[in-house]
This record gives sequence, structure tokens and C-alpha cells, in this order.
Amino acid sequence: MDRTVPAAGAPAATAPRHTAAGPAPTGTLLSVRDLDVVFDTARGPVHAVRDVSFDLAPGEVFGLVGESGSGKSTVLSAIMRLLPSIARTRATTLRYRDTDLLSLDRAALRTVRGTCIGLVPQRPMTSLSPVTPLRKQLRWFLGDLPHDELTALLDQVGLRAVAERLDAYPFEFSGGQLQRLLIMLAALARRPAVLLADEPTTTLDATVQAQVLRLVLDLRDRLGLGVVFVSHDLGVIAQVCDRAGVMYAGRLVETAPVTELFDRPRHPYTQALLRALPSRYTRGQRIEVIKGTAAGANRLPGCPFAPRCPSADDLCRDTEPEPRAVGTATVRCHHAEVPA
Ligand SMILES: Nc1ncnc2c1ncn2[C@@H]1O[C@H](COP(=O)(O)OP(=O)(O)OP(=O)(O)O)[C@@H](O)[C@H]1O
Ligand SMILES: [Mg+2]
Repeated sequence: MDRTVPAAGAPAATAPRHTAAGPAPTGTLLSVRDLDVVFDTARGPVHAVRDVSFDLAPGEVFGLVGESGSGKSTVLSAIMRLLPSIARTRATTLRYRDTDLLSLDRAALRTVRGTCIGLVPQRPMTSLSPVTPLRKQLRWFLGDLPHDELTALLDQVGLRAVAERLDAYPFEFSGGQLQRLLIMLAALARRPAVLLADEPTTTLDATVQAQVLRLVLDLRDRLGLGVVFVSHDLGVIAQVCDRAGVMYAGRLVETAPVTELFDRPRHPYTQALLRALPSRYTRGQRIEVIKGTAAGANRLPGCPFAPRCPSADDLCRDTEPEPRAVGTATVRCHHAEVPA
């Protein structure tokens, strides 16, 4: 399938800022540098994403983890250029392969969406019409596919049985079936090279969650997809991701290979998240929770995590740390240790 995108418009003019992320390696599918998103709301600006930088390689699963409101979905929407008009998006680089996503016009964006980058949205039910039979909705996405081709597509995501029930409505299917359906539409219908999956397993029970995670990894293996996998669950991130970025108050505070993130977390927020994992505790032990909230963190002059951080000092309260390389990780903390 042709995944070239017609160029349109002028590149967005933004001044480069300091970042630990260097130039994107050759073959990179997605390259994000210094991504900033501000929502101009009636109650004032909401700075949802700040200085986010990462790359995605073919066959790689990159995780984005962080608490509710940390900016994970906004990053995905910015990549898809799906943010509402109240959003101001800036980046020094926002590229799919060699295509500058910020300078694309509507027609070019339609080519990119689905054909180059597929999105599994956070809430499956809001992506499907509740009052339209599935057959008709699939036609909106796929056109008039012969029944055997449609069955073959459904079969690839373990939904062969659904092919016999296409006159049913979305509410007549289970959450796991709908999630598989949306993964099929995003990953298989137009064969993109990148899949953005926004909390695809959050509402599912443990067994179905494991099946959907397996499906995402199978598709990655079979199609060589690059996947950005969003979750607030570190356990899920550990199971599926090669590398991951931890988001806090719109920033990526730590990005590292997943084994490194779990074995040697460098940012105090990552360390606190890991200490709060229920699986680390035996019965009767008290789980350590992270005290306080992220509310108001964006109005602080220094590190947004400083009010909740046990190691914060005057430097942290006065000056926001820039991202810097520590071992194989990139960390935004004045006190992240350099390993011996
Ligand atoms: N359309 C919008 N208009 C105004 N503010 C928004 C909009 N979308 C998101 N925000 C704000 O941007 C911030 C980041 O939201 P986002 O949905 O990206 O977080 P998230 O990490 O995906 O959270 P969750 O885990 O709950 O899905 C929040 O403060 C949110 O209120
Ligand atoms: Mg979200």
C-alpha cells in the first residue's frame, strides 16, 4: 500500500529547545521533539503537554504511562492532528517517517490517518454509533468489502463468530469483542505502519486483557508495526512494551527501556509509582501511596513533582529540570543518579 503523503503548507516555525533526545535514528517511524499542547479554555489556558520527545522504530512497542490527566491521550491526538480548535500545538519535530505532520492539509491528513497511523481510541463505545448495526458501521470504515474478505479480517483478530452477527448493534457485543474490532479497524483495515493504542485494555477483565495484549503483540510481530501503547497500569506496560515514557503534569519525566525502568527507576515519581504497585506486596503489608495530587503542578516555577517528592530541595522548587541522559534513560530530575 502506498504510504507516501503529499506535502502541503509550510513547516511550523518553532524554536528548538534543550532536550536529551538527539536526531531521530534512520528508519524511525515517528519522531516527536519538544511537543507542546495548550488548550485555550474559557477558564484560561491548560498546558496539557510540555516538551515531550520520543521516537518510535518499526516493530517497537513504546509505552506512555502516567496518572489521569497527565497528557497521554493529548499526545496521541496531537500526532493524529485530531485536537480541537482550542488547542495550540507546537513542536520542533512531529514527523511520520519524512512527513512533517504539522504542515499537512486536510486531504493529506486523511491519507495519513488510517493508512500511515492507526488509532485505537480510549473509549470504544464513543467511536461506534449505538443506534447503527455493525454491518453498516463497518461499511463506513471499510467500504463494500466482499463477505469473505470481511470474515478474513475479523478472523485475524479472533472475531470470526462476529461475521455471523453483523446485523447486531454494538451494545450486543462484549467489551473485549468491541476492543478487538477497533484494533482490527485501526491496525488491519488500511495496513498502517504505526498503531496508537489508547488504554485498549483498561475496561477489560484480567483474562480478556491478556488476550487483547497478546493480539497487539501478534499484530506487531506479523506486520512489523510500531506501537505507541498508552496505559496508566505499569504492570501492563511491563508486559508489552520495549521502552516506555512516564508522564507527569504533561512532561515525560523518565524514558527508558522497560527492563531499566523497572530495575533501576531514576525519577522519584517512577520510583513512587513502582512502590505503589499492589503486586509488590504480600497480604497484610501496607501499600505505599503517592501523597498529594498533581493539581496545580503546572503553575509552579520549579519541578512539577517537587511538592510530592521526598528528595526535593530549593533547586527543585526554583528551577525546572531539563531532560538529561542518565545511563540508557532520559530523566527530568536534578538528582537522578548517574550509575557507577
Ligand atoms: N478538549 C480539551 N479541552 C480542554 N482541556 C483538555 C481537553 N482535552 C484534554 N484536556 C486537558 O488536558 C490534560 C491532559 O488530558 P489527557 O486526556 O491527555 O490526559 P490522560 O493522561 O489521557 O488522562 P486519562 O488517563 O484520564 O485518560 C487534562 O488536564 C485535561 O483536562
Ligand atoms: Mg487518556
